Amino acid sequence: MKHFLKETDFTLPEVAEVMSLARELKAARGRQASAALAGQTWAMIFSKSSTRTRVSFEVGIHELGGNPLFLNRNDIQLGRGESIEDTARVLSRFVHGLIVRTFDHSDVERLAANGTVPVVNALTDFLHPCQIYTDAFTVAERWSTACGGDLLGSLRGRKIAFLGDTSCNMAYSWALGANLFGMKIALSGPESFRPSKDFEAFLAREGFPGGFTFTTDPREAVRDADVVYTDVWVSMGKEEETKERLRTMAPYQVTASLFAAAKPDAYFLHCLPAHAGEEVTEEVLANPRSVIFDQAENRLHVQKAILTMLARSARR
Ligand code: CP
Ligand code: NVA
Repeated sequence: MKHFLKETDFTLPEVAEVMSLARELKAARGRQASAALAGQTWAMIFSKSSTRTRVSFEVGIHELGGNPLFLNRNDIQLGRGESIEDTARVLSRFVHGLIVRTFDHSDVERLAANGTVPVVNALTDFLHPCQIYTDAFTVAERWSTACGGDLLGSLRGRKIAFLGDTSCNMAYSWALGANLFGMKIALSGPESFRPSKDFEAFLAREGFPGGFTFTTDPREAVRDADVVYTDVWVSMGKEEETKERLRTMAPYQVTASLFAAAKPDAYFLHCLPAHAGEEVTEEVLANPRSVIFDQAENRLHVQKAILTMLARSARR
């Protein structure tokens, strides 16, 4: 039985399958395309706010014939100190899968280790793999027309520049994803937000030693980039550091001029929510090569594909 806690939980052939399934599900939307979760209930345990992840999973599970069960952490006994281990054991007796948004990455690992149903990482402080698969699908939809529809193959050799908070979940998750997909990744942010040694060691353990470049010069990072990516400067849980983060990250704002220093046909991506005027300007968000709302929509299609693959592996 499979879990989806990090990008590398699917092999490359499985990633290709997720992507082509997502394309089929997207094309078929509006028709009853799949009943992959018929008769199933998937619990969604959320300890942080969410618009896209919550709604796309709830709608997606429903569209696959299943029943989503949203559980705010504080509404269940987990919020009053029941252990993660017992929560996993008990919920596994009721539901067919767990979708979890939390702080510590070890929470999703402990749920997976102690439950008997698939666990999906819907964002931790460390990684946000559902977003990265969706982002990759969003650009692959565009690039693959030039390579015979090969979604995964269209990513190979492409360069992504990630600017701003280069030690947040999105930066780390993209660093892992880019290596898995055969892309190059340049991270650029303040020296104090350089990816940690622990993250470097994690990436090496995943098979990608030295898998990214880091520079404090944003122009160097975006040179020859096919994708320019940024995320909020103050992630959930980091609110106390707001003043300092806004000050040190200011040189990394994605402006029209910085975006223009990437390849002329580069795309701008942002996982959203965006803070216009902080990490990115209104002008870039509105640029025709900004694909932020396609990214948001694609969460639905890609996650339906991921859930389908996990449900299949659980039945074996
Ligand atoms: N991008 C993303 O995960 O958005 P939400 O926080 O709204 O779910
Ligand atoms: N880095 C952001 C991503 C939100 C989708 C956060 O963790 O708040």
